[in-house]
Amino acid sequence: MVGGAAVITGTFGLIGGFVIGSAWERLHRYRRRKSGVVAPSSTAVESVQPRLKLVSADVPKPSLARMSHSRTFKPAIGDGMTQDLWNSVDDYFSKMLLPPDAALDLAIASSTEAGLPAIQVSANQGKQLEMLARMQKAHFILEIGTLGGYSTIWMARALAPGGRLITLESDPKHADVARTNIERAGFGDVVEVRTGLALDTLPLIAAENAGPFDMIFIDADKENIPGYFKWALELSRPGSLIVVDNVVREGAVIDAASDDLRVQGVRRLMDYLSREPRVTATAIQTVGTKGYDGFVMAIVKSEDSKQ
Ligand SMILES: C[S@@+](CC[C@H](N)C(=O)[O-])C[C@H]1O[C@@H](n2cnc3c(N)ncnc32)[C@H](O)[C@@H]1O
Repeated sequence: MVGGAAVITGTFGLIGGFVIGSAWERLHRYRRRKSGVVAPSSTAVESVQPRLKLVSADVPKPSLARMSHSRTFKPAIGDGMTQDLWNSVDDYFSKMLLPPDAALDLAIASSTEAGLPAIQVSANQGKQLEMLARMQKAHFILEIGTLGGYSTIWMARALAPGGRLITLESDPKHADVARTNIERAGFGDVVEVRTGLALDTLPLIAAENAGPFDMIFIDADKENIPGYFKWALELSRPGSLIVVDNVVREGAVIDAASDDLRVQGVRRLMDYLSREPRVTATAIQTVGTKGYDGFVMAIVKSEDSKQ
């Protein structure tokens, strides 16, 4: 189960790593050239060549040829490797891998109409959550941060028969929109939207013995991520999967001096994970319609686990 997930996220990681690595390398070459420290050399050019081949090998040639004449395509080498390209690639993958989906489209449309911010996961990320829940054969899923219920619907689709999903949302308006969307998508009887600050509702869930949850998705305010993760661990079992979204924050995560409380929330989570023996975790960088970000994936270990 976990092996499958590792392959999938590893691929995302490679793609993300390549895109960012390449952009970073170009930025540095550009700066060195501008400052006159290093002239563009044949070695520098050669070092780009294998990457060029990687790009053309990854993209089916007929599409690349078509795209290179389209107005939206920006070449992978040069200054065009930006959000536009990430959007185009994400759209391409969505078009190829995600069939039209009226329930999810409606959830987005009604959330937009109600004035909710468009901060839900992307379609491809939603599908990844669904697949992870399937790999977990999840009966019980917990989500922290509902918004309009978009990611909730994706994960609810993966619930095993008799399964249940609880999602926590602090904003009553978001919770109302989510309930309508979830009901309309056909999951009103298996999904419960609980309104309130998650740090208040999580202890109630623990007191009810509602867990253990097979999968927990943390996607609320980033300042409180460490607290959410500790509760997630409390409400899990060996083998549970915990996913935490938005941990890269356009690379700001490596800025120890950041005065952004969300960045510091993620950094405190990373400190905690580096010392917590009960989980094994990784963090994957991603690019796409949601920009440059990433997620943590952690598995709760069994007592006798050697890892
Ligand atoms: C990024 S959005 C969730 C997106 C959703 N998971 C999706 O992908 O469709 C974050 C949500 O967390 C909610 N939130 C913020 N602080 C919270 C808190 N302390 N407790 C519970 N929910 C909170 C926000 O109101 C917002 O709706």
